[in-house]
Amino acid sequence: MSLLIRGGEIVTESTRSVGDILCEGEVITKIGAGLTPPAGATVIDASGKYVFPGFIDPHVHIYLPFMGTFAKDTYPTASRAALLGGTTTLIEMCCPSRSDDPIEAFELWMSKAVGQSACDFSFHMGVTRFDNSTEAKLTEIVSRGISSFKIFLAYKGAFGVDDIELYRTLALAKKLGVIVTAHCENETLVSERCRELLAAGRVDPGAHHESRPPQVEADGVHHLMTFAELTGAATYIVHLSCAEALECALAARARGVRVTIETLIQYLVLDKTAAERPNFEGAKFVMSPPLREAKNQSILWDALKRGDVDTVATDHAPFDWRTQKQMGRGDFTKIPNGIPSLEERIKLLYTHGVCEGKIDLCTMVRVASTNVAKTFGLHPRKGAIEVGSDADIVIFDPNARGVISSAMQSMNVDYSAFEDWKVEGAITDVTVRGAVAVRSGEFVGEVDRGQFLKRKTVL
Ligand code: URP
Ligand code: ZN
Ligand code: ZN
Repeated sequence: MSLLIRGGEIVTESTRSVGDILCEGEVITKIGAGLTPPAGATVIDASGKYVFPGFIDPHVHIYLPFMGTFAKDTYPTASRAALLGGTTTLIEMCCPSRSDDPIEAFELWMSKAVGQSACDFSFHMGVTRFDNSTEAKLTEIVSRGISSFKIFLAYKGAFGVDDIELYRTLALAKKLGVIVTAHCENETLVSERCRELLAAGRVDPGAHHESRPPQVEADGVHHLMTFAELTGAATYIVHLSCAEALECALAARARGVRVTIETLIQYLVLDKTAAERPNFEGAKFVMSPPLREAKNQSILWDALKRGDVDTVATDHAPFDWRTQKQMGRGDFTKIPNGIPSLEERIKLLYTHGVCEGKIDLCTMVRVASTNVAKTFGLHPRKGAIEVGSDADIVIFDPNARGVISSAMQSMNVDYSAFEDWKVEGAITDVTVRGAVAVRSGEFVGEVDRGQFLKRKTVL
């Protein structure tokens, strides 16, 4: 199987140059000008287009039992949506409940993906309890190729850990060379404010962000940073949404705490007024941490540009509005949290980041691909266009225009948070380890092509 991608502008995290890429088998074997295709090779003309390394989404939920229901996607639907959106690798959160056995949970999440994913995948192993048996079990899971944990400082009673568990998870991660990803919110503040809001008759979706103002997130970040400082563990703040939390994280980084920072495409392009829309439409925009005041958007874009924020993810968590989100009519605390966007991350980053001059193309590649690969032990296999890297390639036509529509999306959910939004450019062709999965904007992939990626410990 060989493939020649001819004459595109190859964009990496630090370079832009016109050239050809030859892929043989599953990897890139040559990069240069005027390459001759081997006999029988597929040739894609990329002239006038950008050629990016496959994008990597480091924060996705597919199998997710949560708030009394289950997220809607499956690997066949989510991986197809990912590829149509230019994401060739995703890292899913494995989120067992406190009573689940970690190894059984890991195997359950694997069973949902193996043989059913069109794109490559890995997992962050959720640590939702830490008892006497946990160290041995997590060590076993790490030996199977998982080099990151996930902890929640929110959702106490479901996924959330207490401070002893937090300390022990970080200490173990340090010992094993594993990075700990963390949802940072002060759960006590959230539950007290929810109680007060409900008592005052505030049941609407717009009350959600009032229950979790920026200080709630900043306190969670500060808490994690203190524990990271004292254990020496490497940490990764997921879905950072606001200036206050960013300030805490950067202050910790400045004093030597090991922290990588992720924001989400939703926080870059949406603001809290979406969750205030009438007739319960706001429920489409309920997630945690919540959408923030619009002034945070430019702060986050600037931080991406400077390199202070490292990655852009989706936290894809699809719940139907017509049924599942309705569970929270009459009580906003029961709205399943999440804004699906796996399919739209790259289009929106390009349209609202690159085209509006907030970031350049190399920064887009850095935050949506290369930094993710480097942070999570996948580089240079992923996140790079280099000889020897996996031939995961995205070809992008900057002259195309499109409109986002839930009727046309592949994500298995009944709404789009970006309905009718105009987008610039289009993903035309995508390869997964040398095989074409998207051709001229149509999915032509194989639903079992995706591989579980064993990741290196990185520290
Ligand atoms: O609202 C969100 N973020 N839903 C998914 C679960 C999580 O917190 O990551
Ligand atoms: Zn979270
Ligand atoms: Zn999440």
